[in-house]
Amino acid sequence: MKERLIIFDTTMRDGEQSPGASMTKEEKLRIARQLERMRVDVIEAGFPASSNGDFEAVQAVAGVIKESTVAGLCRANDRDIQRGIDALKNAKSGRIHIFIATSELHMEKKLRMTPEQVLEQATLSVRFARKHRDDIEFSPEDGSRSDPDFLCRVLEAVIKEGASTINIPDTVGYAVPEQFGEFIRKLREKVPNSDKAVWSVHCHNDLGMAVANSLAAVTIGGARQIECTVNGLGERAGNTSLEEVVMAVRTRGDFFNLATRIDTSQIVPASRLVSQITGFVVQPNKAVVGANAFAHASGIHQDGVLKSRDTYEIMRAEDVGWTANKIVLGKLSGRSAFRQRLKELGIELDGEDAYNKAFQRFKDLADKKADIFDEDLHALVSDGATAAAAEHWQLVRMSQASGTEERPHAKLVLTEAGKERKADADGDGPVDATFKAIERVAKSGAELLLFSVNAVTQGTESQGEVTVRLAKGGRIVNGVGADTDIVVASAKAYVNALNKLQGTQRINPQM
Ligand code: KIV
Ligand code: ZN
Repeated sequence: MKERLIIFDTTMRDGEQSPGASMTKEEKLRIARQLERMRVDVIEAGFPASSNGDFEAVQAVAGVIKESTVAGLCRANDRDIQRGIDALKNAKSGRIHIFIATSELHMEKKLRMTPEQVLEQATLSVRFARKHRDDIEFSPEDGSRSDPDFLCRVLEAVIKEGASTINIPDTVGYAVPEQFGEFIRKLREKVPNSDKAVWSVHCHNDLGMAVANSLAAVTIGGARQIECTVNGLGERAGNTSLEEVVMAVRTRGDFFNLATRIDTSQIVPASRLVSQITGFVVQPNKAVVGANAFAHASGIHQDGVLKSRDTYEIMRAEDVGWTANKIVLGKLSGRSAFRQRLKELGIELDGEDAYNKAFQRFKDLADKKADIFDEDLHALVSDGATAAAAEHWQLVRMSQASGTEERPHAKLVLTEAGKERKADADGDGPVDATFKAIERVAKSGAELLLFSVNAVTQGTESQGEVTVRLAKGGRIVNGVGADTDIVVASAKAYVNALNKLQGTQRINPQM
């Protein structure tokens, strides 16, 4: 029997801290169900004290997830921890994750606390949490840049108070693999009660070494939990990528001699869902989940793979779920088949009316597109959630003309808080004309930081999925929209971003 490596997913907490990636409660529920289906051990659903919205999201996830532990992040103070305890009240298995910075730099410059004060606060906070929950994780923030002797004192104290997981973060992505692995090994060696806790690591990818650092912490340091995110989503350059860690441990079982509980066939569906919801497109050459990860372009490679697959393939595409995007529905599919597939995908809509409207959108899409894939259903539900919310701006209809002989022109009708507004504009291209027309009415003055188009599935009949990132007054938001017409998808994404700017969404989920 191989020893277990615990997979702790923080896509909905650390991943959510990427600019513009904040998620609604419904979006978190959809991701949580997919993570549960993938058999992730621990799902960090959010930071309950950061906002009422995130408290409700963590509470909702805790209420439905039964096969994974649900964690909530808390600063080392009673108020945060009480919010965490309340949010996890209904969890079948819940974990309070407490953090406080322990590096000299962070203690002095950020917290303005002495090391002794930090030690005391860490101790008291774990003691408080432990009165309400058995499963407590403690993270010394900026751990990899902390003085090892001081860190050992803090860790010994929190384990004594009942912390059962010790997670060492490389908060700024500064570590290098051999050194980090040794660092973890020495901590475990020096902390007298280290055997009373599971050791974990949480690495950021600023130097592109998050996965390597995490795996070195496992092999050299003896860590048995890795914190990671789907697609490596996360602050700045992101976190350790879940799919890379899981497939490295599985593919190189001869070397790691460890096992995870993950159903790897759910990796690609999870990657697609997270990308669709956050608007963070996966680069084509991304390991495991990139569109080219299993594509062989050179003749020599193609020839080799045809003769014997293992000449150039170390993993099978189907093992990570590349074949999971089967044709599920079409024009002739009925209401119950549609509803059944939503259920299988873990999508629950709010009431009969929402199902009827979603079914109507499905029929409209099936008129334009013969084969409807799972990804189309996710896009359709995301689009529907946007349309159903009583949004300030809604796209009613639009048309545009462009060609080699004419200047692109867009005409559209929006509603602003229910009142119809019309606009038209010329532009350098149909998308530019459309955005200009929208801005003519919305007058948001927001800066367009990113515009990206991605095909939801393969082939020219695929829906285009557009991400629009807007910035205004220090806020950054991502809008997403999908349609078989990419100019319409672009308009939907722009309107979605405007509504997010208009709303009271959190600027930075970690505050
Ligand atoms: O990067 C970090 O230090 C964190 C901790 C809160 C675990 O995200
Ligand atoms: Zn982090």
